[in-house]
Amino acid sequence: MYRTHTCGELRIDNVGQEVILSGWIQGVRNLGGMTFITLRDRYGITQLVFDENTSDELKEKTAQLGREFVVKVGGKVIERSSKNPKMPTGDIEITVNNLEILNKSEIPPFTIEDETDGGDELRMKYRYLDLRRNPVRANLELRHRMGQEIRKYLDGEKFMEIETPYLIKSTPEGARDFIVPSRMNPGEFYALPQSPQTFKQLLMVSGFDRYFQIVKCFRDEDLRADRQPEFTQIDCEMSFVEQEDILTIFEGLAKYLFKEVKGLDFTEQFPRISYEEAMNSYGSDKPDIRFGMKFSEITKLAQGKGFKVFDSVEYIAGINAQACATYTRKQLDALTDFVKRPQVGANGLVYVKYNEDGSFKSSVDKFFGAEDLQEWANFMNAKPGDLLLILAGGKDKTQSALNDLRLEMGDRLGLRDKDTFAPCWVVDFPLLEWNEDEERFFAKHHPFTSPKKEDLDLFETDPGKMRANAYDFVINGVEIGGGSIRIFDADLQKKMFAALGISKDEAEEKFGFLLDAFKFGAPPHGGIAFGFDRWCSVFGGSESIRDFIAFPKNNSGRDVMIDSPSEVDAKQLEELALNLKKPDLK
Ligand code: AMO
Repeated sequence: MYRTHTCGELRIDNVGQEVILSGWIQGVRNLGGMTFITLRDRYGITQLVFDENTSDELKEKTAQLGREFVVKVGGKVIERSSKNPKMPTGDIEITVNNLEILNKSEIPPFTIEDETDGGDELRMKYRYLDLRRNPVRANLELRHRMGQEIRKYLDGEKFMEIETPYLIKSTPEGARDFIVPSRMNPGEFYALPQSPQTFKQLLMVSGFDRYFQIVKCFRDEDLRADRQPEFTQIDCEMSFVEQEDILTIFEGLAKYLFKEVKGLDFTEQFPRISYEEAMNSYGSDKPDIRFGMKFSEITKLAQGKGFKVFDSVEYIAGINAQACATYTRKQLDALTDFVKRPQVGANGLVYVKYNEDGSFKSSVDKFFGAEDLQEWANFMNAKPGDLLLILAGGKDKTQSALNDLRLEMGDRLGLRDKDTFAPCWVVDFPLLEWNEDEERFFAKHHPFTSPKKEDLDLFETDPGKMRANAYDFVINGVEIGGGSIRIFDADLQKKMFAALGISKDEAEEKFGFLLDAFKFGAPPHGGIAFGFDRWCSVFGGSESIRDFIAFPKNNSGRDVMIDSPSEVDAKQLEELALNLKKPDLK
């Protein structure tokens, strides 16, 4: 027998019991006559003590022990004389009478402690050791808990979990595909699914009116903290539903998870913000509504006073940073540098200090008098003591930069606490998105997303203005999920393909199987997919989804632990009928 208890289990009530524990050596402290060893497993840490009563043979064995050795010990639980209230097992320790070294360990490349000395790359290379650390393990425990609760909720709502294939044909999510050569079909390739989108729609045609799957998806896109090339979706689809039904069921899921996993009660309906309002008030379709500081557009107010920078632009808007009129020159310069960063992209920053005494000090005093600035202040709901930060330029670019500035100010003012959660729905997305380079419309969501009934006429007149039955779920400025009500009418689908410039032949080639299926009685249907990794990271209070994935890839899409991707041997290539053009590594 390797253990009677885990290393996180023993308490004061166990005093006097003979126990067996197995685990890894966390640390050895030798204090002359006494040796203290901490033993760790998944469940916690227990202190072992060796004193003057310990046999010489046992003492000799303890002298050989090093960090991360795997041992089995037998001994008696005793009350500690100096208790450690920080450890759940801190009231007791084990006087050991038996120790077996089950396995030795080399000195680990970094310390396996909450605060480690290992850098990112090193910890990724030895990810299996990193996973022994408490904070990383706790992240995976959170992920496990969420997965279990999601299944419980969806099962309770009669959703069936159905697997769909990984070796498929391209899906319409718009990123690049990962492709897999087929040995049995030389010259032909599978694509890994960017999502199970088409399959879940086929399942609706099959009559499985509530489907879900916690499923890997693959997208060959540039990576960021919230993006991995393989990630996990909670993918869902329902039949005989309208947008309202979907929002209700999945708001239910979110509230259930908040309650079961975070212990938080959300009794009110989540706010619903239209895409247009989100862009105008926050400059983002994933607004962080933990704090206000909404945009105020002052284009009309600010133009025509002789300030060329303002007069020549499409759009002028600002935010009101409350109680920040005391910002120093240095602080304002830092904000100006921030907005001028290439990633933010503004040309400059205009500030207006509304001083406590009611006077104004601004970077545009030459062009605007106190009366003008008072007008802006009133319009932006500013009080004495507030600071207005204003950007000007093209509308899209300026909204995006002002979004960055708003979030930066939110951070600086401590308004983005990771333990405060502000979920919302963003609804009424545009159906189409104009692509300047290709001079054609793309589907904002995907080509099966249905337009709003009341906008159908715009297909002929102004397709860019059409809104979709599409929605995103956002928590704290992170897009957690997105979905839509689908087109299930063949004529409407044709119109959509036409608007996207997809020819009949192309549609047939890409999605023929789905269009065929729709000829055999497709029910009205719609769905949503949540980024499981993202949801875990938001609940866990981290910006990086990597922390919640057991074996993630680095920013270049590499798994540095197993050293992948890597070259394959010539024989494999031959079997696959592939010739390689050597990449130009320069
Ligand atoms: P969408 O493309 O919006 O929708 O994806 C759904 C959610 O998946 C997450 N996500 C990612 N997470 C980590 N790394 C990535 N590279 C990544 N890409 C997306 C996001 C996103 O909100 N088939 C549709 C859903 C539907 O219409 O039902 C789809 O895949 O959290």
